[in-house]
Amino acid sequence: MPPARDSVQIAPAQGKLGVLIPGMGAVTTTFIAGVEAVKRGLAKPIGSLTQLGTVRLGKRTEGRSPRIQDFVPLAGLDDLVFGAWDIFEDDCYQAAVRAGVLDPPLLQQLEKPLSAIRPMKAVFDSEYVRRISGPNVKPKASKMDHAQMLMDDIRSFRESSGAARLAMIWCGSTESFHKPAAVHQTLKDFECGLQKSDPEISPSQIYGYAALQMSVPYANGAPHLTVDTPALIELARERQVPVCGKDFKTGQTFMKTLVAPGLKSRMLGLSGWFSTNILGNRDGEVLDDPGSFKSKEETKLSALEQILQAELYPDLYKNFYHKVRINYYPPRGDAKEGWDNIDIFGWLGYPMQIKIDFLCRDSILAAPLVLDLVLFLDLAQRAGLRGVQEWLSFYFKAPMTAPGLYPEHDIFIQLMKLKNTLRWMRGEDLITHLGLEYYD
Ligand SMILES: NC(=O)c1ccc[n+]([C@@H]2O[C@H](COP(=O)([O-])OP(=O)(O)OC[C@H]3O[C@@H](n4cnc5c(N)ncnc54)[C@H](O)[C@@H]3O)[C@@H](O)[C@H]2O)c1
Repeated sequence: MPPARDSVQIAPAQGKLGVLIPGMGAVTTTFIAGVEAVKRGLAKPIGSLTQLGTVRLGKRTEGRSPRIQDFVPLAGLDDLVFGAWDIFEDDCYQAAVRAGVLDPPLLQQLEKPLSAIRPMKAVFDSEYVRRISGPNVKPKASKMDHAQMLMDDIRSFRESSGAARLAMIWCGSTESFHKPAAVHQTLKDFECGLQKSDPEISPSQIYGYAALQMSVPYANGAPHLTVDTPALIELARERQVPVCGKDFKTGQTFMKTLVAPGLKSRMLGLSGWFSTNILGNRDGEVLDDPGSFKSKEETKLSALEQILQAELYPDLYKNFYHKVRINYYPPRGDAKEGWDNIDIFGWLGYPMQIKIDFLCRDSILAAPLVLDLVLFLDLAQRAGLRGVQEWLSFYFKAPMTAPGLYPEHDIFIQLMKLKNTLRWMRGEDLITHLGLEYYD
């Protein structure tokens, strides 16, 4: 059957794709070690839509469901090369051992490629991340000079790695909560602020600015703003660069966005949702600081309110109580435990309860998201998409949207939007699930 319309022009994925990552902690090392393990056939890329997912095309009767990686031209794992910045000097192997996520026998087999990845000196500000400090930082300079130094790092990495294209993804610590300030309103204000080292410009925004200036797509895996400001979105559009964020949707919020749409679909009410977590990795330590926790709390709280739409369903969701807690508990390391107590009500208001106890592994859940995001961002750029990539909301707790739009949090709508975007890129019919034609 001919395509429904012309497909989008997508440049081929030729040459290497350089993945640049501020922050080489648990998530980054688990991601890089995972890619190296998969390349060597030591493990499978479980959890990655780009590696394992399929996309149905046309009618159900056509039986066409190619793998996503065969349907759209994505960079292959063999073409990925990695660069990172961190405030600690550990190479990627040492950092992976320290993070304690992957078993030593697996890591030992990957020691050679991992130990070759040494972190570049970071742009760091202890006003934004309080609980940690390290020696591998750039010398004191203005924020604009720091941005220039990062651009030099990007150029040198491109040369030394031979990468044909680049993508940057923030996997650094969560910065403390700041609202957008005057300096974030326009690109001109922002650049002026960089020159004057305005205290409202965070390190992650300096990385974001440097990436966008170099036409490198940017994804934000943490909850702080970074590129979710008018100034940097203006730069992304000007430089024709795709951006997305914020905050990987992995453990508890992933569960929330699975369960809440289900409750709403059956018109079941909610009187309270109490969520608490214990985790003992470095991320947990940073989140123990009230400023960083506040950033996380904002993104964790927003999903439920948006999904349940109390303004449309006041009888069900007007006054529900929602609380999120994160407790730093070192014995657990990266093996987080997330508890949810959900008080719901049904027919005639009769109460019921749901308990979820998710014994998850934070970085094991996050690593495949990092992989998908860099591959899809690179695809977006080759397809000529720029600015906010709402179709990648699937991966985030607080998806970026165009101004005036509420973010879509329902994971099933997000997945449909993602796959419809891929169909649209290739000129295939969008799937509506109407299906009336089968019963005519
Ligand atoms: N693991 C998950 O499931 C998950 C889910 C959502 C969001 N996140 C976010 O992803 C990020 C990474 O998580 P993690 O578990 O790998 O944390 P981590 O603490 O193990 O690693 C973060 C690294 O960033 C480094 N860093 C901090 N500031 C930096 C800077 N300015 N420049 C360069 N490096 C810097 C730290 O030294 C550290 O090594 C965190 O912000 C976390 O909140 C993780």
